[in-house]
Amino acid sequence: MLMIPSPGHTQVQEFIIEKDPSIKSKLGKTDLGQSQIYDADLLIVVCSSISRSVGRYGDRGKDFYSIIDGGFASMLVLLTSINEGIEASFVGAFENQKVSKILNLPEYVKLIGIITLGYPAERPEKFERIDISKLGYYSKYGNLSPQGRFILFIYFELN
Ligand SMILES: Cc1cc2nc3c(=O)[nH]c(=O)nc-3n(C[C@H](O)[C@H](O)[C@H](O)COP(=O)(O)O)c2cc1C
Repeated sequence: MLMIPSPGHTQVQEFIIEKDPSIKSKLGKTDLGQSQIYDADLLIVVCSSISRSVGRYGDRGKDFYSIIDGGFASMLVLLTSINEGIEASFVGAFENQKVSKILNLPEYVKLIGIITLGYPAERPEKFERIDISKLGYYSKYGNLSPQGRFILFIYFELN
């Protein structure tokens, strides 16, 4: 059981585990030239079924919460996989209508992302990250943390 948050505990997140080579190949052809879709051993397609949220939250549930819900779910899948030593990557650039059709998604199921999983033949180079001290602000947007280190800044403020 994945402990994913959802607004009002609507639990909209759903997953399709895809191993079928012919479907992976079809999915691979719909993306923007991203061969990892069909190279991956396994795909997990993350969806949000707005059928459980739209009655309660209307357009906010359909257009906004659904994306956040799917994003949270995707992050948990990514972290869990990496924790188990499996390489995982999130793909968000694809043709929604074509992918939805290939996977038989009903109208009320929103496609969020495709996670590729597997044991890679080579270790990819990691991209450089913006230092967290430049991304965390103090009190209002733009005020850099006086401590300069964002994690420490949270610690000092809480203690
Ligand atoms: C919303 C979103 C969409 C993404 N779409 C793609 C994608 O279509 N193809 C891809 O290769 N990576 C995609 N990524 C993965 C990012 O490129 C990747 O997380 C980033 O380059 C950092 O790499 P790392 O997580 O391996 O360090 C996406 C990530 C996010 C959050």
